[in-house]
Amino acid sequence: MMAPAATALGFELRVLAEGEDVSAVAAVANAPVGDYKDLDHLLEFSRGLDVLTFDHEHVPTAHLRSLIDAGVNVHPGPDALVNAQDKLVMRAAIDRLELPNPRWAAVASVADLVAFGEETGWPVVLKMPRGGYDGKGVRIVASAGDAADSAEWFEAMSPLLAEAKVEFSRELSAMVARTPDGESRAWPVVHTIQVDGVCDEVIAPALDIPFDVAVAAENAAVRIANELGVTGVMAVELFETPGVGAGFLINELAMRPHNTGHWTQDGSVTSQFEQHLRAILNLPLGATDLLGPVVVMKNFLGGANQDLYSAYPAALASEPAAKVHCYGKAVRPGRKIGHVNLVGTSAADVDSVRQRATTVADIIRNGRAQAGATPTTSEETA
Ligand SMILES: Nc1ncnc2c1ncn2[C@@H]1O[C@H](COP(=O)(O)OP(=O)(O)OP(=O)(O)O)[C@@H](O)[C@H]1O
Ligand SMILES: [Mg+2]
Repeated sequence: MMAPAATALGFELRVLAEGEDVSAVAAVANAPVGDYKDLDHLLEFSRGLDVLTFDHEHVPTAHLRSLIDAGVNVHPGPDALVNAQDKLVMRAAIDRLELPNPRWAAVASVADLVAFGEETGWPVVLKMPRGGYDGKGVRIVASAGDAADSAEWFEAMSPLLAEAKVEFSRELSAMVARTPDGESRAWPVVHTIQVDGVCDEVIAPALDIPFDVAVAAENAAVRIANELGVTGVMAVELFETPGVGAGFLINELAMRPHNTGHWTQDGSVTSQFEQHLRAILNLPLGATDLLGPVVVMKNFLGGANQDLYSAYPAALASEPAAKVHCYGKAVRPGRKIGHVNLVGTSAADVDSVRQRATTVADIIRNGRAQAGATPTTSEETA
């Protein structure tokens, strides 16, 4: 999804692909296959690049330091990125900045976990500090009696992160971009809806958010970016907690274009992908204004339909204003395979905008016209 932004600006994008079959290979002409965990592959790949960046957070920190020692211009740098790679490091950094964390502890055993739960109350959210995504690496421990079920997690990784389960009214995301020279720009705070730990829908801006909460969340994101030396785009995932602290708690950081920023592709003057490129190249950042009063992004996961294209006639006909982004990934149940963006003309109509975006996504995912879709061709009507 960064390729169109690079093309428009006349930049050549080179991608280190994990295999011939990953979707980036189809989108970018120069996509050699290599292993991001292998320093030799990284060094070979980095030769001649103006700047090196990431679309996931799992490149080992030590390798990033070696690349910098070899003269590679790495953004975001390892000292910033570690806060997105390791949730324990991130929690400690948020405490240091005196920004609002949920109650948390590093726990090294079932006994530690029980002690944390007894102190903060059950349920407890237990997280693998590294390697998680889409809710993998996150589990709810309901009671002291259930804590022993997590024994194998402690064998896989220790210490783990224990957090109090936050009673939030909604989840939010504050996105910001920052250049190496320290220019930063934030998008308005958005409302994100997760289903089974996976981002399902985003509403931009977060409607009816108290002004002071929105400002504080945006300021927190800018402050984190400045204090941690973040370069490129960062998403700060938040829990909205009316009446508690500043009205929000920080969940986690992502230092790259993020699912909660996909709405910017069609709903903001500058998309997060273009902004990321501008930021890491230390260019002036683009305007972050919305292109309408409300923008909805609806993800679609792999479902019954294996041949997504076969559903395009019905899907595209159902909503001409919708923008479909398909990732070219093999369809597997529960795998994110695309999203739909739709800009609304009135924030008061947000329910209808959400419904229309959802209808498009459902038709593609399920491969048939859904109830509520308006068939417009004679073939479908038949
Ligand atoms: N302390 C908490 N209290 C309540 N719910 C939580 C807590 N931590 C996580 N969750 C829920 O679990 C979801 C996934 O958690 P988290 O964002 O830490 O995991 P992840 O797998 O790294 O996510 P991502 O898909 O963003 O990479 C959150 O979006 C939220 O819905
Ligand atoms: Mg998350």
